Amino acid sequence: MNPTTLSLFKSTPGAMSCAEGLALSRLTASAPTGIYIESGSHSGKSTVAIASALHRGCELHMIDPDFKRPTSAILGDLQSVSESTFIFHIAPSVEALPRIAGDFAFVFLDSGDHSYELCRAECDIVAPRMVKGGIIAFHDFRSQFIGVERCYNELLATGAFEEVVIPWKDIEAEVVAGDLEAGNDTYHHTELANPMFLGALRRK
Ligand SMILES: C[S@@+](CC[C@H](N)C(=O)[O-])C[C@H]1O[C@@H](n2cnc3c(N)ncnc32)[C@H](O)[C@@H]1O
Repeated sequence: MNPTTLSLFKSTPGAMSCAEGLALSRLTASAPTGIYIESGSHSGKSTVAIASALHRGCELHMIDPDFKRPTSAILGDLQSVSESTFIFHIAPSVEALPRIAGDFAFVFLDSGDHSYELCRAECDIVAPRMVKGGIIAFHDFRSQFIGVERCYNELLATGAFEEVVIPWKDIEAEVVAGDLEAGNDTYHHTELANPMFLGALRRK
């Protein structure tokens, strides 16, 4: 994220640390072209991180039954970051995901109560539709929401996915050196200096 985009990310309310935002941006940049999806957009904070690295011409679909800001305001922010196409789905993910046409290149899951049941239902829909090299990223991975890691492990056990190594040490060093987390408007693990609860799998 460039300084202007990082500033927008930080001022957007939501539940994501700068370290996680930078990791999400890197994951987006490493995904192939195709359809990009976020489940659980809230106010568009994580969406800014994804939008910052979208490939030209890719669509980003945002899903949330209850966006926490007007979608027009979120859209305005995203259009200041990227010329991509942004599509809002005001619905639960299990209803919205099957309606999205095309092959999935990138899916970020950060929805609802982060329960095993919801995460698993989302994975069951998206996993078979991932293109080769496509990425499924999970927020709240290896956190108190243990169902997320269970889903991650179950997908890994199918043999169709491999783990993506996120360079947390480099990312943390960048955040600390620039004091980037200062002023980040998040309700997520504020007791930690740099929460890093993000995991990702790549379709083989
Ligand atoms: C933890 S917040 C997401 C935070 C956001 N990604 C960010 O970075 O700030 C979870 C969001 O999931 C939404 N949500 C609840 N149930 C959902 C469902 N079944 N499908 C998709 N989103 C859901 C909530 O409305 C809420 O805005």
